[in-house]
Amino acid sequence: MAKTFFIETWGCQMNDLDTQRLSGSLKLRGYRRVEDENGADLILLNTCSIREKSEQKVFSRLGELREVKRANGGVKIGVCGCVAQQEGERILHRAPWVDFVMGPGNVGNLDMILDEGARLALEFPEHRQYDYLSIDRSSPTKAWVTIMEGCNKNCTFCIVPTTRGREVSRPFDDIVAESRAAVAGGRVEIELLGQTVNAYRCPVSGRDFGALLAAVATLDGVARLRFMTSHPAEVNESMIGAMRDHANISRYLHLPVQSGSSKILRRMKRLYTREKYVQTIARIREAVPEIHFSTDFIVGFPGESEEDFQESLSLIEEVRYGSLFAFKYSPRPGTPALRIGPPVDDEIASERMSRLFDLHERIKRELLESYRGRVLPVLYEGPSRHDPAMLAGRTEDNYVVNFFGNPATPVGSILGVRIDQAQHHTLRGEAIA
Ligand code: 5AD
Repeated sequence: MAKTFFIETWGCQMNDLDTQRLSGSLKLRGYRRVEDENGADLILLNTCSIREKSEQKVFSRLGELREVKRANGGVKIGVCGCVAQQEGERILHRAPWVDFVMGPGNVGNLDMILDEGARLALEFPEHRQYDYLSIDRSSPTKAWVTIMEGCNKNCTFCIVPTTRGREVSRPFDDIVAESRAAVAGGRVEIELLGQTVNAYRCPVSGRDFGALLAAVATLDGVARLRFMTSHPAEVNESMIGAMRDHANISRYLHLPVQSGSSKILRRMKRLYTREKYVQTIARIREAVPEIHFSTDFIVGFPGESEEDFQESLSLIEEVRYGSLFAFKYSPRPGTPALRIGPPVDDEIASERMSRLFDLHERIKRELLESYRGRVLPVLYEGPSRHDPAMLAGRTEDNYVVNFFGNPATPVGSILGVRIDQAQHHTLRGEAIA
C-alpha cells in the first residue's frame, strides 16, 4: 500500500505554494495525499508566524498531534514554514513527538530530509532546489509562480526577514519557462509571488519586475496575470508601464500601506511617507484608471496616537480602497519594534479596529454598488461555493462574481456577466450570450 501524507497550511500564498511544492515532491516518492491525519504516515504542518495568534495555533495543533502519535507510533511529524524557522530546535524540546523541523529555505530538500532522517533543516542554501514541473497545483485555472524569496526590507514590526531570509530572485528565463509550462498544463492565469514581488531583479541579466511582467503577459495563453505582494517603495515606471500596456495584467493591486501617519511609517521603517504613498497611488491611477486598490493596515503600533490613527482613516477616505485588511499590532520576537515601546492598550486598539472597518464597509459598499448594471469580463473558475446552482469567477479587478450561466462552460473561459447585485464582499449576476 502506498504511504500517505497529511498537510495543513496556514498563512500567506507563499505558504500555499510551498505546500503545493511539498505535496508534489511527496507524490513523486509514491505518497498519496489524505485529508485525515489519523492513519497518515507523514503529517506536515506548514506554519505561519506573522502574528502571535498564528503561532499559538501551531502549538495547540501540536498538542493534538501528540495524541495522534500515541495512537500511531509510526507516523512522522514535520513542522515546516515560518514557525519552524523562528522556533527551530525549541520545537523539538517543547514537542518531542515532532520528528523534524524544516524552514522555508528547505522546501526543495524534503526528499533529502526524509532520506537522511534529519531533525533540523534551517539554513538558507545558496542553491535553492526548485522543481517547478512537480508542483502539485490545486487550481485548474491558476498557477502560482515564485519569482523571488525572502525580504531585504527591515520593517520594524515584521518577522519575515528572519523566517524567510534575504531576498533571492529567480532567473528571468526560468520564471518564463515555468509560466509557459503552467499554461501548457492548462492554466490560463499566472500569479507571480514574492514577499516584495516588485523588488524582483534577475540575478543573471538584471532585468526588472516591469520587464518580467511584460514578458509573462505576452506569453501565448496567459489570459490573466496577477502578482503579490508589492512594496510601495518599489513601484517604478517600468512596473506601471507594463500594467498600462498589457490589458491582461490584473486591474487589482494590493499595496500594503500599514499606516496613514508619516510619523508611524517612519517608526515602522516603511521607506515612504504618506505623501509619497499617495503620489504613487496617483501615478498608477493615471496609467490604469480602472484599478482596484487593496491594502493592509496595522492598528495600535507603539506610539500610535488618536491623531495618527485618524490619519489612517483619512487615507482610507482618500484612496477609497476596494478591499482592506487590518491587523492589531502583534509584537514579534527579535524585531526592532520591541524597543520602540509598548503596543497601544488592547481595548483602544480593538476600538480603533472596529472604527476602521466601519468606515471601510461604507466605502466598499459604494464601490460594489457601482458595478450594478455593468457587463464585465469574468474568468470562470468553477461552481459557486455558496450556491451550487451558480457559477463563480473573478473580474479583471479581482472581485468574486457568483452568476447564473451554462454549467457546461469550460473552466478558464472568460464570459460577459451582467452584474445585478452587490453582496457583502462579492458581486452577483448572469452570464449574457
Ligand atoms: N503585527 C500585526 N500585523 C502584522 N503584519 C506583519 N507583521 C505584523 C505584526 N507584527 C501584517 C502587515 C502585513 C500583513 C501580511 O501582516 O499588515 O502587510
